[in-house]
Amino acid sequence: MERIQSALAKARAARDRKLQGANPGTGKKTTESGPWPGLTEMKLNPGHLESNRIVAMHPGPNASSFDMMRTNLLRTLRANGWTRVAITSPTPGCGKSTLAANLAFSLARLADTRVLVIELDLRHPSLIRMLGAGADQNFAGMLAEGKIDYSQIRRAGPNLAFALNAHPMENPAELLSAARTADIIDEIEAQLRPDVVLVDLSPVLVSDDAIAFLDQVDCALMVAGADESRVSEIDKCGKDLATRTQVLGVVLNKCRHMEQEESLNYPE
Ligand SMILES: Nc1ncnc2c1ncn2[C@@H]1O[C@H](COP(=O)(O)OP(=O)(O)OP(=O)(O)O)[C@@H](O)[C@H]1O
Ligand SMILES: [Mg+2]
Repeated sequence: MERIQSALAKARAARDRKLQGANPGTGKKTTESGPWPGLTEMKLNPGHLESNRIVAMHPGPNASSFDMMRTNLLRTLRANGWTRVAITSPTPGCGKSTLAANLAFSLARLADTRVLVIELDLRHPSLIRMLGAGADQNFAGMLAEGKIDYSQIRRAGPNLAFALNAHPMENPAELLSAARTADIIDEIEAQLRPDVVLVDLSPVLVSDDAIAFLDQVDCALMVAGADESRVSEIDKCGKDLATRTQVLGVVLNKCRHMEQEESLNYPE
């Protein structure tokens, strides 16, 4: 375990050096600096988002569980000087992409928190459909070409941007583990200066795609489906994640029995 901790610390220190190199002498971004303000805006339809269970754009009872998660997440990120959070699961369909989008909208409601969502579940990209966003984004294609093109990253409001994919890719593990991919993502982070980067990754137990990218994140959240994920799957997924990164915890999603009496519903 100590070897893992030390490897993670080294990887983080190397990334920090790169970020410092790109922004010498600064720790702080200004709202107008870098390519962020010039990113193309995507127009989103609130009705479409809600019908896809993306409900955290505005404060309220639907958003409260994501707001609590965001507060805990931010505290951990700030305490450790981390930015990158992988969102993954043992098997497909547990709710990773829905959670990534909701957490992103919740975080981006904080005025001083800039959020970048990177979709790297490249066999099954789904965020364009879920968000109802224009179908011409190809962030993975840009990674494969090896040249940064900021038109592949779109802003949804002042604090939130998405790097998405309209089409699936076969066998993406090579691309995800390539040094050039890591360099491009480091450079994008250095230029856009997000406070939080949420990475929507593939499920851990069905391919090596997620594992191929885990060295590039600071920590991971595992999403499990309450009636779908077996304890043995959660256990195996947690162990696999822990060999590569810090596991923040497991989000138990799709809990039918919590809807009324157990869900927290504080007055606004
Ligand atoms: N809390 C929830 N309650 C009920 N349904 C949910 C919940 N969260 C997500 N879903 C639904 O479950 C399905 C899968 O969700 P989503 O696409 O977010 O999962 P995923 O883990 O990203 O899947 P994949 O591995 O296929 O990318 C969607 O139809 C989504 O609307
Ligand atoms: Mg998904």
